Amino acid sequence: MELDLCIKGRRSVRAYTDAPVSKEQIEAVLEAGTWAPTGMNRQPWGFIVIEDRKLIRYVSDETKILVQQMMPSRAKRFQSEEDLICYDAPVLILICTEKDKQLGRLNLLDSVLAAQNMFLKAYELGLGTCYMGFVQYLGSKPDVLKRIGVPEGYEMMVPFIMGHPKTKQGAEKRNKPSVLKWIK
Ligand SMILES: Cc1cc2nc3c(=O)[nH]c(=O)nc-3n(C[C@H](O)[C@H](O)[C@H](O)COP(=O)(O)O)c2cc1C
Repeated sequence: MELDLCIKGRRSVRAYTDAPVSKEQIEAVLEAGTWAPTGMNRQPWGFIVIEDRKLIRYVSDETKILVQQMMPSRAKRFQSEEDLICYDAPVLILICTEKDKQLGRLNLLDSVLAAQNMFLKAYELGLGTCYMGFVQYLGSKPDVLKRIGVPEGYEMMVPFIMGHPKTKQGAEKRNKPSVLKWIK
């Protein structure tokens, strides 16, 4: 796919069909992540792929509880039985890195860059993705992390969902680049 079309056509997808995502598609998305630049070329990530719908629902339910505690103003919205966190997506991917006090920030930056590669690759394959910022709060719940496969000594840097979108993705308006200074 032409790069500009890919960059501008990708959207965060919050409604998915029940169609399964193939192993080949998931592997292609993971591989795209590994081509992202990393500080000192450390390639620090490890990926966790969750296709177990019950486990994804568990992630949503645990996240809902945390969001309700941390953001009382949003609590009412999350009382719904609907999956308003992972949107019933068929795949949840966690980009994880080893815990590292000194290089934690670098690990996060590397993971975010990998995520964008993965979002674009998924889009090229006709799949949708959405960054799961709320799910990141589960970092404070070691018991939940253990149950969803995050190994001891690792932390979850970027969680995101993936699946076949129910509706077509497409370009949206964006603000013009805000150039604060252009010094020649
Ligand atoms: C750090 C980060 C956290 C996000 N967390 C969530 C989230 O928890 N739930 C959600 O539905 N979308 C989440 N998003 C998606 C944004 O809402 C979305 O990227 C933004 O509205 C722009 O839309 P677009 O991705 O379709 O261009 C997150 C995006 C980023 C970058």
